Amino acid sequence: MSVKYCPLCMAKKVIRSFRLNSEVKEKYNNGVALTPPMGWSSWNLFRNKINENLIKEIADAMKNSGLAEAGYQYVNIDDCWQNSSRDENGKLRTDFITFPSGIKALNDYVNGLGLKLGIYSSNGTHTCEDYPASLRNEKIDADTFAEWGVEYFKYDFCHNVPVPTIAPRVVKLNIGERNGKDFYEAVAEKAKLEGNAHLVKEKKVEGGYYIKGLCANGGSAEFGGIIAEKSDVYVLTLVVRKAVRKEKFIAFSVNGKKEYYLYVPEMKRFTAEARLQIEIELEAGENTIKLFNPISSKQDSAFFLYKLMGNELKRATKEYAEKNSVPEKKIVYSICEWGRNKPWKWGAEAGNLWRTTPDIMPVWPSIFALYKLTIRLGRYASVGAWNDPDMLEVGNGKLTYEENKSHFSLWCMMCAPLILGNDIRKFIKSDGTADTDSKIYRILTNKNLISINQDILGIPCKKIKGLARKSGVDVLVKPLDKKRVAVCVFNTTSGKKKVTIDIDKIASLTEVNVDKKEKYNILNCWTEENSEGNKIISTTYKHDCDVFIIS
Ligand code: GLA
Repeated sequence: MSVKYCPLCMAKKVIRSFRLNSEVKEKYNNGVALTPPMGWSSWNLFRNKINENLIKEIADAMKNSGLAEAGYQYVNIDDCWQNSSRDENGKLRTDFITFPSGIKALNDYVNGLGLKLGIYSSNGTHTCEDYPASLRNEKIDADTFAEWGVEYFKYDFCHNVPVPTIAPRVVKLNIGERNGKDFYEAVAEKAKLEGNAHLVKEKKVEGGYYIKGLCANGGSAEFGGIIAEKSDVYVLTLVVRKAVRKEKFIAFSVNGKKEYYLYVPEMKRFTAEARLQIEIELEAGENTIKLFNPISSKQDSAFFLYKLMGNELKRATKEYAEKNSVPEKKIVYSICEWGRNKPWKWGAEAGNLWRTTPDIMPVWPSIFALYKLTIRLGRYASVGAWNDPDMLEVGNGKLTYEENKSHFSLWCMMCAPLILGNDIRKFIKSDGTADTDSKIYRILTNKNLISINQDILGIPCKKIKGLARKSGVDVLVKPLDKKRVAVCVFNTTSGKKKVTIDIDKIASLTEVNVDKKEKYNILNCWTEENSEGNKIISTTYKHDCDVFIIS
C-alpha cells in the first residue's frame, strides 16, 4: 500500500510533536505531602561535598534547633551519594568512602530522631553529577528505596533519553509458557487494525505481511482470542521486521487493564526478523492484547517516564510493607525536570510536586525570576500536588535580610515546598542550645508564615492587579481556612513604596471566602502586630514585603 503525501497530516504531526497529547486522568494520590513538604536538602550549599556524618549532623541540628518542631521533617540527600557502579545484583549502592554505612543505616539514624530521610536519582542514564541513575531501572531502584525506608524521592532529568515515538513493524505475536510451549500464535493479518495501522506486503517474513503505522499513538493492532488455562504469568514473543532506523518502543495493553512496555533496539539487518520477549499476566479464559505506541511528543515522554517511576514507588512501598509485615512508608515524590515539559500540566497525576523552573541561585535576580515563572501557575497546584520553584536559598549567598524575608514569604504564599538549603548546624550554639536570635533562624521559623504555607486548603496565592495601584508593587492574595485570607504586599523595586489597600475589595474577590464587615482583624505576620480596620497600610523598601492575615 502506498501512503500519499498529505501536507495537512504533516502539519498536524508537527503540532502534536510539541504538545502534551496524553490524557491526564487522575491525581497521584498517595496520601502524603497533603501540605507542601518541609525539610532540608544537601544540594544548594554542599553540592558534591557530602558524607554520612554531615547528614547525621544536619539531622541532629534539625531536631535540636527546634526546626523539627516548627515543621521541618525531611532530611534530603541530593546528588553525589551514589557509588559509580551498581552492585552485583544491579542495585544502586553508596560511595564506599563517603557513605560507608549505606542508606538504610542512615535512614534508621534519622528515623531515630523522629525525622525522615530523602534520596535522589535521575530520570536518565546518569544523574546530573554523572552517577548511575534510574531510567530503565525504575522497578529495581524503587524496590531498593522502599527497602531502605526513605520517605522522599527527588527525581531529576539529566541524561534523560526520551521514549521513542517510533514503533516496530509487527510480524507476529506468540504467547506461551516458559518451558517453550506456545499456545497462541497470530500473524499480522490476524490483527484488528485501527487508525494509521496497515499491512505491508513483505515476502521475507512469516505470513507475508507486517503491520506498520503504530507510531506516535497514530494506530493500534489488536490480537484477540488468546485463551489462557489459568490466570498466570506467560511469555509474550513479538516478532518484528528488522529496521535499521533508531530504537523503537511498543506498549501492550492486556484486556484494557495492565500495560507492558518493550524497547526495540536499533538493529543490523543480516536477517529479516527479530524476536523479542517479555513476561505478561493473563486472566483465565479469553484475553485481548492491544499494541500501540502511546508517545507522540517530548512532553508525552516526560509524563510517561515520571508516571512510570511514580507507580513503581507506590507499588514498591506497598509490597515491601506486605512482605515484611511492617507499616507502609509512603514516599513523597518530587519531580525535577526544571519546567522543560510543562510539568504543571501533568505533574499532579505523576507525583506530589514538580519543579517549575531552572535551578535556583543565592542571588536576588534568580529568586525574583523563579517567583515570576511560578506565580502564574497557581491554578495547577492543589492538596498533595505542588508547584516547586526550587529549594530555599534563605541564609545562603549575599541576599539581604529583606531579600531572605521576601524569598521565604513568596515561597510560603505560593504553597511551595519549604526545603531549606543552608547550613542549619549554625543554628546550634556552642552550649548546644538553639540560636533563636539569628535573623535567618527567625525567618525560617516564623510560625505565621509557615501556617500560611501549610494551610489545609492548599490554595496557592494569586497576583491581583489593581489593588495597590502603584507600579512595582505586587499584591498576592491566598485564601486560608476558617474564612481568612493572607495578603502579601511585595515591593519588587529598589525604592520606597507606600500603599493603602481596601480590604473590602479583597473580601469581594470570588476566590476569597471572608465575610465583609466594618472592621477586619489584621495580623502583621512579620511584626506580630494585631490591629483592626478596613485598610491595609504598608510601607516597604527595596525587595521587602509585608504579609498580613485578614479575618
Ligand atoms: C539538577 C537539579 C538540582 C540538583 C542537581 C544535582 O541541576 O535541578 O536541584 O539536584 O541537579 O546534580
